[in-house]
Amino acid sequence: MTRDQAEARVRFLREEIRRHERLYYVLNAPEISDEEYDRLERELRDFETRFPELVTPDSPTQRVGETPSSEFPSFVHRTPMLSLDNTYSEDELRDFEERVFRIVGRREMDYTAELKIDGLSMALLYERGRLARGVTRGDGVRGDDVTRNVRAIRAVPLVLAGNDVPGDLEVRGEVFLPRSRFAAINEEREERGEEPFANPRNAAAGTMKNLDARVVAERGLDVYAYQVALAKGVTLRSQWEALERMRAWGLRTNPTSRLCRGLQGVLDFCSEWRDRRDSLEYEIDGVVVKVNEFALQEELGFTSKFPRWAIAYKYPARQAATVVRGIDVQVGRTGKLTPVALLDPVVLAGSTVSRATLHNEEEVARKDVREGDTVFIEKGGDVIPKVVSVVLAERPERAQPWTPPRACPVCRTPVVRPDGEVERRCPNASCPAQVEERLKHYARREAMDVEGLGDVLVHQLVETGLVGDFADLYRLVERREALLALERMADKSADNLLAQIEASKTRELRRLVFGLGIRFVGERAAMLLARHFRSLDALAKAGVDEIDSIYEIGPAVAHSVHHWFAQEANGRLVEGLKAAGVRTEEDKGAAGSLAFQGQQFVLTGGLESMTRDEAKAAIEARGGRVTASVSKKTAYVVVGKDPGSKHDKAKELGVVCLDEDGFRRLLGG
Ligand code: IVH
Repeated sequence: MTRDQAEARVRFLREEIRRHERLYYVLNAPEISDEEYDRLERELRDFETRFPELVTPDSPTQRVGETPSSEFPSFVHRTPMLSLDNTYSEDELRDFEERVFRIVGRREMDYTAELKIDGLSMALLYERGRLARGVTRGDGVRGDDVTRNVRAIRAVPLVLAGNDVPGDLEVRGEVFLPRSRFAAINEEREERGEEPFANPRNAAAGTMKNLDARVVAERGLDVYAYQVALAKGVTLRSQWEALERMRAWGLRTNPTSRLCRGLQGVLDFCSEWRDRRDSLEYEIDGVVVKVNEFALQEELGFTSKFPRWAIAYKYPARQAATVVRGIDVQVGRTGKLTPVALLDPVVLAGSTVSRATLHNEEEVARKDVREGDTVFIEKGGDVIPKVVSVVLAERPERAQPWTPPRACPVCRTPVVRPDGEVERRCPNASCPAQVEERLKHYARREAMDVEGLGDVLVHQLVETGLVGDFADLYRLVERREALLALERMADKSADNLLAQIEASKTRELRRLVFGLGIRFVGERAAMLLARHFRSLDALAKAGVDEIDSIYEIGPAVAHSVHHWFAQEANGRLVEGLKAAGVRTEEDKGAAGSLAFQGQQFVLTGGLESMTRDEAKAAIEARGGRVTASVSKKTAYVVVGKDPGSKHDKAKELGVVCLDEDGFRRLLGG
């Protein structure tokens, strides 16, 4: 290759890399997988090694990470926060080991294997055992001082434990958002007409950049410490010892980490977690492998960019290619229009996928997805697959850009796009599609739990005019004949349905509040509102300030609830529910029993006499709270069949563990 050709290729690679960085970091819309991105970067680095005169200071290879933002004071790290070189195969891991062997001149090695959580790295500085500073990685040299926000993360101890805590300590770790929190936050964002976060990593990063620490507190971030960067006066000999010491000081470390004697143990760890990664409460993208002994780490040292004593083994992204057969537009319960790609069915991460969300029309335009296109789809942190990129080389000649509908595809009302929102909406609250979605939400298992009220039936009920709102459901018993006239509705199924509807009259208040489908009111907010107000009437009468004053309820929820009850139609709806005999007050039985107020529970393993959701509901009904991971703040760990690592963690921290019987007794008492 001539120098000119090399120069042209380098220029192309730099532009490509910058474009993909922007897509990933700024637009949350990556078009290629991490693996493809790394390949581009590696090719560029190879060229720059062969033609050093082509290196420029602004080349993507010369920068370690994101540039710090300006809203926070910046802080220069005491030692740079580096990232790791990536590998994608066992062979490359063996190459890594060979390199290590060659440098240190021996052929036996211990490693730590740690799950590589997809979050953001953070430096935590402790002075005399107290949290003094939290700093993002930034560009590796300088990060954002986000101390206020770090303090709002409950998983970060403000004061360390034990009497051997070094006076000057810096640890580094990964801040991340557990899957369940990610899903809940995105649901709320979508309801608010805000762009959902593309993945938990972006959600965690976005949260840490939030200027309001209260928002950070609500988000439920978690952290695992993985490195001691500085510990004055304490001698640590190995990474494993560092992990143990951090744990002893009260920092959260990942209980799955493993000390491996030899590379085989590392390979086993990697393949074990490749199969089990879906069972984790957080997203991982691979495994971090570190040479255990610090003396050897020192000998190995660093390249210009990475440590030579560690490497990231990355799992392949779970992507699949398929063809878009059409683009459908769905109408949500608040009228939001969501374009959806109809796909040739394809197997992805264990299930068959035939639809993938395109989020909103801007996204369709940005990715330029067209009917007939071959696309890559991926499962992110959500269960719902999404279209990642279009394979332009395979686009059929006659493929046309997609045009969003100007009218609601269901009721034909012209669509609107409120200022500042990315979504278009159908403004017609009686649009049959919205009515259907509201009914389905009302009937959801987490809401009023009306089994048998499935999509097809809801559609029939709305189409025939039998049901127009929730209250109509309770009048169906008087319209049995009409019900029986519906397609595929036999005596028995009608009876079952009516019995289910009848049973839903006495559901707990929190389920009703959630089922109403008020914007921003997710399960947790509904539970807090029900607990505070104890009746729908009291909630309806409440002013914004009173709602806002409830711990963990924010102003957006308060305004939305107030607004909802102020609508005349909703007032009529509530009256209709009451007239139908739906319980709108908290059960007297539940009234006296806030026995678990302020207590945190963790569930692990399967229970025999109840589902996880039922156990959670039973705890929350008594004022308790279910959290994802065990900490010193955990009051009880409920241990079912085949418990996970949380059980070990509980034993380690001395948290009370209950078996199923014990848990039932606690509920009963
Ligand atoms: S060690 C020099 N350990 O992965 C040591 N990193 O590219 C660098 N990460 O920026 C980090 N889990 O954000 C390390 N157990 C772990 C990790 C981990 C996740 C992230 C971290 C880092 C990136 C490496």
